[in-house]
Amino acid sequence: MSADLAAPEKKPIVWTRRHLLGLEELSRAELEALLDTAEQFVEVSQRRRKKRSDLKGKVVVNLFFEPSTRTRTSFSLAAKRLSADTLDFTSGGSSISKGETFIDTAKNIEAMGIDIMVVRHSVPGAPHLLAQHLGCGVINAGDGAHEHPTQGLLDIFTIRRIKGRIEGLTVALVGDIAHSRVARSNIHGLLKLGAHVIVCGPSTLVPQTFTQLGVEVAHHLDEILPRCDVVNVLRIQFERQRSGLFPSIHEYARLFGMDSTRLHRARPDVLLLAPGPINRGVEVTPEVADGPHSAILQQVTNGLAIRMAALYLLCGQPAEQP
Ligand code: CP
Repeated sequence: MSADLAAPEKKPIVWTRRHLLGLEELSRAELEALLDTAEQFVEVSQRRRKKRSDLKGKVVVNLFFEPSTRTRTSFSLAAKRLSADTLDFTSGGSSISKGETFIDTAKNIEAMGIDIMVVRHSVPGAPHLLAQHLGCGVINAGDGAHEHPTQGLLDIFTIRRIKGRIEGLTVALVGDIAHSRVARSNIHGLLKLGAHVIVCGPSTLVPQTFTQLGVEVAHHLDEILPRCDVVNVLRIQFERQRSGLFPSIHEYARLFGMDSTRLHRARPDVLLLAPGPINRGVEVTPEVADGPHSAILQQVTNGLAIRMAALYLLCGQPAEQP
């Protein structure tokens, strides 16, 4: 499949993948294709008539085995904005409770004529398994602590829109790196696009082995803060953690939480991101989360354009003339 939506600078975008499973396997050109396509969809969402017909007749299903606010609604709205039919599956209330397997469930849903399956699951590799067993396109909407490619893309897209570039920037990912699929997707995408990436947090949440991915590992936020163009604060994932990885929430917030005092030590134009959901008062205080450096809600807005771009490219549709 290929799609030839013109990028803003009119270079043709060629896309051949049937699935979007992670940023690790994407080339720089493919990352740029997604970002450049999303740039055009930002404009669509600002129009009075926010609808295109690119995916008319296609069916997109959200298959979520974990809770979600942003990703699920964003994919639903993105699909509707491109005129696809949408279905929402949640494991609660389904025949999974009668013993039906994950693959059988997905195959039965696919048998209704699905074009794209958007999958979130607590087990790393679950979307990859479906990609091997199904004929439709599969998008990873978060698989355990492995990857969350559209979140990584929307974080990178937000940085690029505000800073004008990725190449040469220093981006800190702060917090629970060990349990974070968002961190992995950000690391793969940012490094390919030429950023310097620092992962920072307590040594129990930021193992030294992350240097093997090509990032800098740090354990003192105040030391690295003056070097950072962007600080992306990741949620402490209480649901994925063994207990005892840091002494207390209060201690974590004191050493790694972004508050007003810490913000004053950062560059005047530092950009603050958080993938959400946020634990207010833990990773970030309310006045910083809602303050002028924060692009947290812009990330959500940009997520819509990224998901429209992903659906558009995977469906291989030619562009509708504006
Ligand atoms: N950032 C993110 O994935 O949010 P949700 O869990 O609400 O989808």
